[in-house]
Amino acid sequence: MWKPEVAFAAMRCLTHPLLMRFLGLSSPCASAGLSQTKTLMLSPEQLSLRQSFSTRSGLVTATDVVKYWQKVFETNGIPEAQESSEYIVSFVLGAKTFQSLNSRILYTPLTAVQQEQIQQLSTKRLERMPVQYVLGEWDFQDLTLKMRPPVFIPRPETEDLVSLVVEEGSWKYEKNSGLLSPAAAPHPVILEIGCGSGAIALSLLCKLSQSRVIAVDKEKAAVDLTRENAQRLQLQDRIHILHHDVSSSSAKQLLPWGPVDFIVSNPPYVFHEDMVSLAPEILRYEDLDALDGGDGGMRVIKTILALAPSLLKDSGSVFLEVDPRHPEMVENWLQTYPNLLLTLCAIHKDFCGKPRFLHIQKQSR
Ligand SMILES: C[S@@+](CC[C@H](N)C(=O)[O-])C[C@H]1O[C@@H](n2cnc3c(N)ncnc32)[C@H](O)[C@@H]1O
Repeated sequence: MWKPEVAFAAMRCLTHPLLMRFLGLSSPCASAGLSQTKTLMLSPEQLSLRQSFSTRSGLVTATDVVKYWQKVFETNGIPEAQESSEYIVSFVLGAKTFQSLNSRILYTPLTAVQQEQIQQLSTKRLERMPVQYVLGEWDFQDLTLKMRPPVFIPRPETEDLVSLVVEEGSWKYEKNSGLLSPAAAPHPVILEIGCGSGAIALSLLCKLSQSRVIAVDKEKAAVDLTRENAQRLQLQDRIHILHHDVSSSSAKQLLPWGPVDFIVSNPPYVFHEDMVSLAPEILRYEDLDALDGGDGGMRVIKTILALAPSLLKDSGSVFLEVDPRHPEMVENWLQTYPNLLLTLCAIHKDFCGKPRFLHIQKQSR
């Protein structure tokens, strides 16, 4: 449980005598025996002593501060205490990971500005803000994306969803380019439903250099963030970003470039009854509509599948990230709607070995 009084103490901690003690440094004022009133009138000796202590307080290094905040996070029950502390300190030092910092940087005293930044960011983490929002950016595949609450933070398993679409796109390209001239080789058009920060859509644009993507989300905050990330990565020319709720959109509104080769989605798929057990980081900061899949987690999955036949080209595919209970549920649901002409053709596991990704194909007529 977060304790405001501990967080408040932590805010002041880098110059606090307790931190100095923890770091094996003595408190400047206490050691110098200087009271507040005495500091107003300093003798040359006192002035020199004070300057030497303020230099010593600068001797706090990255390694010291990581250890300190790790301890504070642990004491306050913050998950991934060490990683959180390392990410924050590395970020302030301009690096992605603590491991990538060389020993010169690790043991160089931090400046007052750096200490202040670390203190501010760590205080947010103490309030259970996910580290991705604390830093305001996060890597997904080879891209660094801006992150802002409450837009959903991309999860590492979703990188495999992108890889599946890339494999299918490359395979189709190779198959067709063996038959066609290079000029006639396909340029896949992909529709992403629920783009969030743009992680999937923008990775696909990078990996499939001839592709175009339509990215749709019902939340304006998500649409704005995808647009910002597309521009930062200079991918804005091959992406069409739409602010739509697919449950009330017509297929036509989602198809500015005609029927698509692939639909990809990491939809809200958490079973409604499981929402209460999510971590405080999620419940306090992320948009819960981005996770809550309603009854049986199937609300948006069903909407996507019902729309798919009118969105896809013949033999086009839907790639979905789902809960491990969904493959069987989706298969049963598709069997009750044979008129959709959709076949579940593959179930892929995530890196934990759980059935996580569905490849569903539209039958050709
Ligand atoms: C789990 S998040 C995935 C975000 C992003 N694709 C990713 O993987 O990081 C689901 C996204 O779907 C959006 N969404 C939920 N229901 C939707 C709907 N009916 N129409 C359009 N977007 C929807 C949410 O706003 C959210 O951004």
